[in-house]
Amino acid sequence: MKILAIETSCDDTGIAILSAKGGSASGGEVNFEVLTNIVSSQIEVHKKYGGVYPAMAKREHQKNLIPTLIKSLKQSRLINFKALENVRHYNLEKKLEVIQKNLEREPELYKKIIPFFQKYGKPDTEGPDKGGIDLISVTNGPGLEPCLWVGVNFAKALSYFWDIPIVPVNHIEGHILVSLLNRPIDSSMGLQFPALALVVSGGHTQIILMKKIGSYKILGETRDDAAGECFDKCAKILGLSYPGGPIIAEIATKARPSRTHEGRAFVKLPRPMINTKDYDFSFSGLKTAVLYHHRKQPNKIQKSKKYIQEMSAEIQQAIIDVLLKKTLKAAKDYKVKSLIIGGGVSANQELRRQFKQAINNLTTVELFIPPKDLSTDNALMTAITGYFRYKNGKTGNWRNLKAKANLRI
Ligand code: KG4
Ligand code: ZN
Repeated sequence: MKILAIETSCDDTGIAILSAKGGSASGGEVNFEVLTNIVSSQIEVHKKYGGVYPAMAKREHQKNLIPTLIKSLKQSRLINFKALENVRHYNLEKKLEVIQKNLEREPELYKKIIPFFQKYGKPDTEGPDKGGIDLISVTNGPGLEPCLWVGVNFAKALSYFWDIPIVPVNHIEGHILVSLLNRPIDSSMGLQFPALALVVSGGHTQIILMKKIGSYKILGETRDDAAGECFDKCAKILGLSYPGGPIIAEIATKARPSRTHEGRAFVKLPRPMINTKDYDFSFSGLKTAVLYHHRKQPNKIQKSKKYIQEMSAEIQQAIIDVLLKKTLKAAKDYKVKSLIIGGGVSANQELRRQFKQAINNLTTVELFIPPKDLSTDNALMTAITGYFRYKNGKTGNWRNLKAKANLRI
């Protein structure tokens, strides 16, 4: 089956088309073929403001969705656009009212979707050209509410126009299951249960126990800022750009390897909650420690390359230390056979290296980390998760679908 997936939970507009075969609700041998996976980034827009403003991100999604969809359909060669050029325009009359109602809060998207439907629909008698797509999968939470709604309402309009079922996807589950792209499930070669997932992103830091696909228990999570949020906020304090995670990671590579100064750590930051017995995190204290340390420095030091490099390396290491210690503790306590790491922060090279090294020493645990471009937000994760949810019978009608900013896994 072919799945069209839409992801707009934060500041990336993602569209993917995935061909999926085989497997069952709980796993098995699944065959995925990625037909296209496009992420239209809004970083340049948000950079100027040092963070994401939901209303601005919502407007960008409205602008980006149709061009990204057209590019996806072209790239995957599912719709023969050339052949449609001479066909008379699709008469939307009967469907216009429902589409208009669906997108009344997304006027800019509405303006773009109408010519798309008119131009790329076949004549009425044949029905609209849906390019062989069988299922629409859309992230409906958690995330920024106005952003989620754009994607959800877009998916609903497509589902109605093409008469295709729709499946809602939890963004956190997407960050976990994207690791299963072309990895067998429930076999000695692939993901085995119980499994543990560490999801580290701009909005979430959670340790999740997984009994099977679709069955999750949150063991611990952050009590305040997420790990990615901590990277971003610390970067801002240091006068660096947005998003802070990849910038801090890049600068940290330039710090002296020993990160010591006359035998002492140049900057020593706290590792909040590292020794607590639970699996929770807290990163706001780390950010505050960075703020106070930074404030105390003379202007010249604050701006010096060396200070920023040392500080970046120490921020990164403090975050990795806490994530690693708590995750390994949970992996041992629950005797898990697999560990999945996902979410934007899992793109961090140093974090990947240190987790790989630590898991190498635990020979009974198999580590799953997605390729870097699938660690950060994308729609392929939504497509893969949508397929498993479809297998679990979670497909629904577009009419009842809602965005849920605080959706829990
Ligand atoms: O999963 P994601 O793309 O979006 C959310 O769901 O939040 O994660 C974005 C977060 C941002 O906070 C960003 O700074 C962080 O992931 N991030 C990184 C790296 N790449 C992205 N953090 C540390 N190192 C990186 N290389
Ligand atoms: Zn994410």
